Amino acid sequence: CGISARIGEEGSLGPLLTSIKNLEYRGYDSAGVAIRNGDGVEIKKCGGEVAQLESAVSAGMTDGSIGIGHTRWSTHGPPTDENAHPHTDCHGRVAVVHNGIIENHAALREGLRGRGHEFTSDTDTEVIPHLIEERLEDGHDPETAFRSAVDQLEGSYAVAMVLGDEPAIYAARSGSPLVVGVGDSEHFLASDVPAFLEFTDRVVYLEDDDVVVLTTDGYRVTDGAGDPVVRPVETVDWTPEDAKKGSYDHFMLKEIHEQPMALRQTLHGRIDGDDVVLEDFPPGSFEGISRVQLVACGTSYHAGAYGEWLLSNDGIDANTFIASEYAAYPAPVDEETLVIGVTQSGETADTLEALQSARDRGARTLALTNVIGSTAARTCDDALFIRAGPEIGVAATKTFSSQVATLTLLAERLVRDVTGEPTADHEARLDALADLPEHVEAVTTDTRAEAIAQQRLGDDGHFFVGRGNAFSVALEGALKFKEITYEHAEGFAAGELKHGPLALVTSDTPVFAIGTGQHGNRLESNINEVRARGAPVVAVAPRTATDLMDAADEFLPVPATHPDLVAVLANVQLQLIAYHAADAMDRSIDKPRNLAKSVTVE
Ligand code: G6P
Repeated sequence: CGISARIGEEGSLGPLLTSIKNLEYRGYDSAGVAIRNGDGVEIKKCGGEVAQLESAVSAGMTDGSIGIGHTRWSTHGPPTDENAHPHTDCHGRVAVVHNGIIENHAALREGLRGRGHEFTSDTDTEVIPHLIEERLEDGHDPETAFRSAVDQLEGSYAVAMVLGDEPAIYAARSGSPLVVGVGDSEHFLASDVPAFLEFTDRVVYLEDDDVVVLTTDGYRVTDGAGDPVVRPVETVDWTPEDAKKGSYDHFMLKEIHEQPMALRQTLHGRIDGDDVVLEDFPPGSFEGISRVQLVACGTSYHAGAYGEWLLSNDGIDANTFIASEYAAYPAPVDEETLVIGVTQSGETADTLEALQSARDRGARTLALTNVIGSTAARTCDDALFIRAGPEIGVAATKTFSSQVATLTLLAERLVRDVTGEPTADHEARLDALADLPEHVEAVTTDTRAEAIAQQRLGDDGHFFVGRGNAFSVALEGALKFKEITYEHAEGFAAGELKHGPLALVTSDTPVFAIGTGQHGNRLESNINEVRARGAPVVAVAPRTATDLMDAADEFLPVPATHPDLVAVLANVQLQLIAYHAADAMDRSIDKPRNLAKSVTVE
């Protein structure tokens, strides 16, 4: 999500709409603005893209010099008009926009309900204006009321407030970004600099627990204790497009580095001790299912294959299908079959067609997707969201990690419902899942992949091999590499090398061998087979896999974790290999030739 705010001498509506548009890359499933004009606070908000909000505004809204705006990417509650921000108190005096997650919103909401407050949305945000309203009614001044409400919030947030009867904007941050844009006769606030880059390049980065008050005369920052603080004014020299990528050269690299955050969102509130909590899927939701089929394309197909491995390992009859082949495949399907469409966008035509064919044959369908309100989410019987946030780079990265994490959670629910038992080793696996964001962070901050990618430029071909769930990551590693470098790359099951691909292996075909700690000796034999033919081998494996480290020419370590999840970490190293190789070759990384982010034709 992205928040923005503006105060100036002239009307704020135009600049606010521009800044929300600039933030659309942070979320684009609903948007809204609140303007303080002669009639108090006026709000326009709706599900859909910012263009829809623009039409609603041009149909009639009175401009004013102070306003706040928001663009939303749903993680809790669908992208409806009601759930769009800004949210207000009971009397429409307080309007609030928010980015982040309020972890204690349920308890706060219950308390407020008990004290007579009524809610109109499913969002965690709506508690904030009601908390502020209470403080104002207690006689506090606006700044004290705002600060006291924010003090009750747990979680990560950036919040901005405007009042109908006060010429100021109040904002605070804790764990979510918030930047002040300093103009000559106007000031801005936003989640990110690109929001206001057309208007000013002078920025003040706020720190956690800071509260800022913007007035027509300027802005004032206080720290968590309420003491005045001075945050430096910096000048940025970004173009609006650069700024959206922050300090990263490409969206792909940004999204690789966003994976810890994306995974935190994916897992948020979904692991409860040694069990999982999946919003729409309480225990028993999958009783009666005897067979699972996963249908998907591209990267999502590899995530699906990973999911198949997890399910099969625990005794579920599971198979993954390339979506474009599924309709023509005589797979047995009946009403005890659950068909899961794994699709980041929820719009891939091949996947939608496969789901339709499953539905026609009587199966129950579930969309595992990143986009609330997508066609897959709307047309399947059920939907489970991966909550990775918007992904701009054509080559999928963070959505793969979040898809596998979501499939791991789903596998736990499914296995318990179908077999009556938790997955083998469930406690250790769920612990490892909870640690995944931190472990991914350790990989994204490792610089070894870049050096290895640069050593391997100019080779004839690149092979990726693995066993078990690492086979799906071998396929994904090769796909990522070919998509953005335009070089030949192929993934194989490590054991298949000797049945054909070995004929291609030379000293100019590096082999990336992915170890999970589960099939060590066999993978070691495969490494020896290709090294005997002169191929340089890069092992990507837990740092404890010293046998693979000794067998290979180069070693790219990942944190040692549960073997079922190691391959997710190895995949992040392979994303970095592909990225740095493509970057060194000056490829069009975010928009590779001939490819599209979402393929809506069959
Ligand atoms: C396109 C993209 C791939 C993506 C595939 C499936 O081919 O270029 O990166 O993996 O579609 O997309 P979906 O949105 O269904 O996950």
